[in-house]
Amino acid sequence: MGDDALRTRRVVGNWKMNGALAGNAALLGACASAFPESAVGAGRAVEVAVCVPFPYLAQARDLLSGSAVRWGAQDVSVHSSGAHTGEVSAAMITDFGGSFVIVGHSERRAHHSETSALVAGKAAAALAAGLTPIICLGETLEERETDMTEAVIAGQLSVCIEVLGYDHVAQCVIAYEPVWAIGTGRNATPDQVQSVHAFLRRRLGPAGASVSLLYGGSVKASNAAELFAMPDVDGGLIGGASLKLADFEPICRACA
Ligand code: 13P
Repeated sequence: MGDDALRTRRVVGNWKMNGALAGNAALLGACASAFPESAVGAGRAVEVAVCVPFPYLAQARDLLSGSAVRWGAQDVSVHSSGAHTGEVSAAMITDFGGSFVIVGHSERRAHHSETSALVAGKAAAALAAGLTPIICLGETLEERETDMTEAVIAGQLSVCIEVLGYDHVAQCVIAYEPVWAIGTGRNATPDQVQSVHAFLRRRLGPAGASVSLLYGGSVKASNAAELFAMPDVDGGLIGGASLKLADFEPICRACA
């Protein structure tokens, strides 16, 4: 819907809690070589990024600086500083050159009791520090099977709009990640994804023209092109397939 030329196409790797210094060095070095400065995609320009565990932000900065690949984190504190043991602020992520932070991933909503209000607060903290939040939304299998998908997603999104306002939501990236498709090998079909993305775009109102909407959930080299060809899909948030360049690179190129 609308003019998709206005929206940035992106492929972002979510490493989750994977990696170690030696293996990361090989993967980050290979990513930097595959995507040297401003060379991602022969067709439409695609922004490529990886969101790494906090301890590896410095390593990502050291190995990706000078390449076209950006980096970021997978969570952020709603607070800016102070007595919050174990938390990491948005300013700390930008201090290491991070551009993105994932907020509201279903694994955090489900296993760390994160509410939509907290997720919206984290997105606000990220924006205030100059980071682009990637806000994750999505329904469970039970919610899909009981026809609750749109209601659930509308509820998650509306809290963000209330807290952030349309102007700030326009600066966010939104990732639709159906919980039943994450790490299961079972991706949503291109038509299912397009239908939810078109719904999200309408609900985004005036912000819809600029927000890039990513799909996440079992994206692989073999299904990326058909998912990214959908008119309201601006790229992907990639879990397992972002851990090997042989899987990740063709997904990034399929977005171009
Ligand atoms: P998979 O690509 O491993 O299904 O994970 C998707 C995801 O959760 C990205 O944030």
